[in-house]
Amino acid sequence: MGEFNKKTMDIEKKLIELQEKFQQKITSVNSKDDINKVKVEFLGKKGELTQILKQLGTLSVNKRKEIGKQANQIRDHFTEQLDLKINDIKRALIEEKINEETIDVTLPGHENMIGTKHVLNIVIDDLVDFYRSMGYTIDDGTEIEDDKHNFEMLNIPKGHPARDMQDTFFLTNDRDDDFLLRSQTSPNQAHALETHDFSKGPIRMISHGRVFRRDNDDVTHSHQFYQMEGFVVDKNITMSDLLGTLSVTLKYFFGEDREVRFRPSYFPFTEPSVEADVNCFFCNGSGCSICKYTGWIEILGSGMTHPNVFKAAGVDPTVYSGFAFGMGMDRLAMLKYGIEDIRDLYTNDVRFLEQFEGES
Ligand code: DAH
Repeated sequence: MGEFNKKTMDIEKKLIELQEKFQQKITSVNSKDDINKVKVEFLGKKGELTQILKQLGTLSVNKRKEIGKQANQIRDHFTEQLDLKINDIKRALIEEKINEETIDVTLPGHENMIGTKHVLNIVIDDLVDFYRSMGYTIDDGTEIEDDKHNFEMLNIPKGHPARDMQDTFFLTNDRDDDFLLRSQTSPNQAHALETHDFSKGPIRMISHGRVFRRDNDDVTHSHQFYQMEGFVVDKNITMSDLLGTLSVTLKYFFGEDREVRFRPSYFPFTEPSVEADVNCFFCNGSGCSICKYTGWIEILGSGMTHPNVFKAAGVDPTVYSGFAFGMGMDRLAMLKYGIEDIRDLYTNDVRFLEQFEGES
């Protein structure tokens, strides 16, 4: 074998090996940096292909041409492969970004637990809207009251037996002490009378909120519950204003079909006093366990404001007259929605609460 031939074969062999080596490298790289390294390794000035090409001078003219052409093709091929690889990597990076940013709609979703309005708030908001529509203002007062507004000014002096009806949480050990947790929303009547400027119009207000009594909790009793109080004072307010207001209230709340009945009653701060009943909506008045076989269900207390209440606040009862009413929100909610245990309103069991979703 001539020397030229041997050299040619060596170079050809090296070129084949180089291509194999390149092929292996190019398939395993997957970053831009690695690609640049491969580029330098194979095509750079000191790169392997350049080294091989330097040896072309030792070949015959013909072979030099032939292998030179082949080497150029190999260089073009390498360049093309490197470019393709770079494009692949760029595309993969873009795809990765897109994938990170897209929402996989096939994944199981997270359920967002959206709360529902508490049934007591459903009832309260409903009635507040109702009274607002009739021009009433809202003044809720405070849960801590003094004896004066909770009792004295409402014609319930110390030692009055009516105090026993509302076993009260006093805030100190001394029963004569001023402060207590309000046992009713009625003290807001006294506050309104004390502060109202009648030159600006009548009192026509609603007060609602939490009240407290020293009761042992059971199915129908809770040491805290919610009341709503209505209070209207002007010149010439009469009992028929009261009865009319209560009738529309009860028919609005329980439905037009309900019959409303008024019974004489006693409250220290009203005279005369009345209690309002609706005919039983379970048996329609024929008698059942809900209405204790009377056909009627007691709903609220009310009456014409007692002159002593006006006097205690410095308002002249010969000029002004008024009416008041008070009702338990818990009782109304229980009756309307068939809730049997008042404690369900306060234990906040989600299974209980979510039953009223969509009620208002
Ligand atoms: N405050 C009374 C109670 O808690 C309810 C009540 C009765 C309020 C008659 C009134 C009323 O305004 O006129 O038992």
